[in-house]
Amino acid sequence: MTHPVHIDVTTGSRHSPILIGEDLSRDLPSLLDQHGIGPRRFIVSSPIVWRLHGEGLRPVLGGGDPILLPDGERFKHLQSVAKVYETLIRANADRGSTIVAVGGGVVGDTAGFAAATFLRGIALVHVPTTLLAQVDSSIGGKVGVNHALGKNLIGAFHQPALVVIDPLLLKTLPRREFRSGLYEVVKYGVISSRSLFDRLDTESKAIFAKDGRSLVPAIVESCRIKADVVSKDERESGLRRILNYGHTVGHALEAVTNYRRFRHGEAIALGMLAAADLAAVRGALAERERSALSQLITKLGPLPAVADLSIPEVMEAIRRDKKVVNGRLHFVIAIEIGATMTIDDVTEDELKGVLVRLGLKG
Ligand SMILES: NC(=O)c1ccc[n+]([C@@H]2O[C@H](COP(=O)([O-])OP(=O)(O)OC[C@H]3O[C@@H](n4cnc5c(N)ncnc54)[C@H](O)[C@@H]3O)[C@@H](O)[C@H]2O)c1
Ligand SMILES: [Zn+2]
Repeated sequence: MTHPVHIDVTTGSRHSPILIGEDLSRDLPSLLDQHGIGPRRFIVSSPIVWRLHGEGLRPVLGGGDPILLPDGERFKHLQSVAKVYETLIRANADRGSTIVAVGGGVVGDTAGFAAATFLRGIALVHVPTTLLAQVDSSIGGKVGVNHALGKNLIGAFHQPALVVIDPLLLKTLPRREFRSGLYEVVKYGVISSRSLFDRLDTESKAIFAKDGRSLVPAIVESCRIKADVVSKDERESGLRRILNYGHTVGHALEAVTNYRRFRHGEAIALGMLAAADLAAVRGALAERERSALSQLITKLGPLPAVADLSIPEVMEAIRRDKKVVNGRLHFVIAIEIGATMTIDDVTEDELKGVLVRLGLKG
């Protein structure tokens, strides 16, 4: 095994280490020991992930069984959290126990919320198994679940004691899931790194082939960008908002389709196209930059259709989103590939024009 890359999220006096390296998950027990994680470890995973990768991770359990939560956004709710609590209580888990979340963002957010709240907070380790979880949801400490009336309404900040990212775990990930995560990598390029953006374009074949020489650096750079932003603004009072690039329209598209049509990253890809269009029309983003983004997104693969979606419904969903502060919509735009600014004077007409050009019906 090559030496892992080490990145720190630093919030206040706390360090939350992220380790990245191929095959790292095989060394999980010793990595946990090295990072001072206590011996009582509870794995939370999903049946699919455990079937594919459980054997290699079994040593972490020391003879016990994993807590398996059903996969899917609709199971990211308090009943799943309750199932975790119940197992922990029955096993006499204490404040020194640790939850090790092995799975995609759904498992990570749910298990993470259980860790944040059980006995007012126990240690959490993330072993993310989707690309989205490796570059995004396992980093930054946001954990939580959905409520029947809305997504991610119940949550907490709980920085993991350790994040172990093993890109080889992605070998079994279906192409559409992989691509969905890749759009978040595109986002990091747009908000902060021209070179990452360019490499996604020139090395797209190798990345889709999950060739470590291209994929690992892309994951590492994404994690660095997110870790850096979160270290400067854990609670999203300012800078962290740039991570919401593409998410204003993206979240609305997900909401109006009841989270069924789009994988999260796909909605964000459309949201990034919308944000780039808005910026280009305003003259804030050069047309050649807008078109580079649009070409890269097209190159990465097909996106679900939007032509049947209603513009008034999407606008309503945008208004309801958490990004409206004091009645003003905060909108992150790119001013070039690699740099952004936040604007709060987007008009309804402007937004409508963007949605029309994105292909939505009137
Ligand atoms: N906490 C945060 O900061 C944050 C950030 C972004 C997204 N999220 C959340 O993340 C969730 C989405 O996460 P996701 O995209 O990882 O989806 P997911 O957790 O639903 O996983 C997607 C699918 O991939 C399967 N899977 C996972 N790992 C696999 C592997 N290695 N091989 C084969 N199949 C595998 C799962 O069984 C599932 O069916 C959303 O709930 C979103 O709100 C949280
Ligand atoms: Zn996202």
